[in-house]
Amino acid sequence: MGFQGRDVLTVEDFSKEDLLRIVEVAQSYTQHFDPHLLNGKILASLFFEPSTRTRLSFETAMKRLGGNVIGFSDWKDTSIQKGEDLKDTIKVIDGYADAIVMRHPEAGSAHAAADVARIPVINGGDGSNQHPTQTFVDLFTIFQSFGKLDGFSIGFLGDLKYGRTVHSLVKALKHFDVDMYFISPQEIGLPDDILKSVTSHKIKAQTNDLHEVAKNLDFLYVTRIQKERFLFQDEYTKLSASYQLGMNFLAQAKPTVKIMHPLPRVGELKHELDASENALYFKQAHNGIPTRMALLGLLFGYA
Ligand code: NCD
Repeated sequence: MGFQGRDVLTVEDFSKEDLLRIVEVAQSYTQHFDPHLLNGKILASLFFEPSTRTRLSFETAMKRLGGNVIGFSDWKDTSIQKGEDLKDTIKVIDGYADAIVMRHPEAGSAHAAADVARIPVINGGDGSNQHPTQTFVDLFTIFQSFGKLDGFSIGFLGDLKYGRTVHSLVKALKHFDVDMYFISPQEIGLPDDILKSVTSHKIKAQTNDLHEVAKNLDFLYVTRIQKERFLFQDEYTKLSASYQLGMNFLAQAKPTVKIMHPLPRVGELKHELDASENALYFKQAHNGIPTRMALLGLLFGYA
């Protein structure tokens, strides 16, 4: 399917060819791009939840390609605060902009917005459900680092229950020949429906013990515990110190292992790792720019 005018709601809507195309265009944009490609186009940036990387990298990507951005980062400044429903807000913005990127705490909110918008809606994270554009960034980062998207092993460490970046990446990896290790306290393990979406031979282990599997990994994808998703904060407090990655991991892992993290980190990933060759997370955050430029170029039909 062509990209022009498409919504970006879940990774399931993207074929292997689509994913490879995004990676290919992102790679080319690291070398060269037309700074006037999106002249006259407007992206509405609607963030109903905190964001640093997703919002600012989308806005930067749009501006680097010559486009403009409207929007808000605090929904309390909008008429939603007065009681307007999301669909009315979207219907109005639909007439102001050429595409929407939206983050919202409710799973399914991006679909609800796309139902009423004629312009493309990009899901910048809907609750604990999905974060498809982070997956595009992650795939591009893996490709850059490993040279291909097949033949590696990846461990997911952390909040696999509520972490939407993990949900999207695990689902997208079904297209590739990858061994997966899921490492978390049982209470925040991967939801069954996502586990079932993975071909069983690709699941090499589900464990609470990183040491058991450390030596097998080419990538370790760490996430923070998603504090804001817990109904009971004492549950969060109980789990909050259950893992912390530091230099001792490198002593057990392959020398070439790469550590990824969508960021923000809040203690689960020690700063002592930052200077190591193994730390990929700041590169990953910076890759948000070429990847989101690629996505915008493709959605507007110009890439
Ligand atoms: C993630 C998110 O918002 O889901 N951040 C991001 O977009 N890079 C991860 C998180 O908040 O833990």
